[in-house]
Amino acid sequence: MTHIAVLGSTNMDLVAYVDKAPRRGETVTGREFRTIPGGKGANQAIAAARAGATVSMIGAVGNDAFGPRLRSTLEHSGVTTDHLRTVEGPTGTAHIVVDDEGGNAIVVVPGANGTVDHLVPGDEGLIASADALLLQLEIPLEAVLAGAETARAHGVRTILTPAPARPLPPELLDATDLLVPNEHEAATLTGIADPFAAGAALLDRVPRVVITLGAAGSLYLTRDAEPLAVPAPRVTAVDSTGAGDTFVGTLAVALGEERPIREAMAWAATAAALSVQREGASASMPYRSEIEAGYTS
Ligand code: RIB
Ligand code: NA
Repeated sequence: MTHIAVLGSTNMDLVAYVDKAPRRGETVTGREFRTIPGGKGANQAIAAARAGATVSMIGAVGNDAFGPRLRSTLEHSGVTTDHLRTVEGPTGTAHIVVDDEGGNAIVVVPGANGTVDHLVPGDEGLIASADALLLQLEIPLEAVLAGAETARAHGVRTILTPAPARPLPPELLDATDLLVPNEHEAATLTGIADPFAAGAALLDRVPRVVITLGAAGSLYLTRDAEPLAVPAPRVTAVDSTGAGDTFVGTLAVALGEERPIREAMAWAATAAALSVQREGASASMPYRSEIEAGYTS
């Protein structure tokens, strides 16, 4: 079985479903409110566990009511939480408005995630024992870098989702084996809007890049081959929150199983397409049997 370690955020998503998101100064009436476990780190962990890997999560929750709920959600999906700390203060929250096209706008308040600025004893051993380490940018950059360099030192593959978008120190890209930005994040990192050109520029620093293009699928770029475009299944989106995390978590499992990249991307696209048809981030992530049933090569 593939063993994946995730170093990253856990958030409680506070989600309002509306017909149309409000503009500044405007008040609208929503259809529904839900609290759904999320956070890019926890989402990737849950996606990978449901796709069939053994997964351990490194991060922190607060000592409020959300902390235990996030921990038990992770455990119910099969994620080991021994390295998920409980710290004084609030759990991270994401304040999300989902519109009737399944699109969203999100404000993240880091809370406990802000305390994850270094590795603690035991984290290194966990990372060293994994086949891959998944990283995102909702915890302080110092810890992301420490995680990536620790993984590197032990020959563990590092997969970085550079979200939320921000410029990155070159050392972090240098310690990344596979970078998985969406097209906006790729543009932020390079200043280049065209995803093919942005991906090509990123290959100066990382050996492999997968750019996610939402409903248009994904693009794989590497130094020694032509770019590869893989389409996504056509579906009607209800809530696309966490679709990118579903893609990355599932992709990591497929790569850990040494599936060819095209198949891994198609498998991940199938999982993401299943997730956008259901409400919520982690709550919408498919199990392996659902991915296998929906997968067409
Ligand atoms: O990537 C989706 C996630 O981003 C949501 O679950 C929310 O917590 C935000 O962090
Ligand atoms: Na969803």
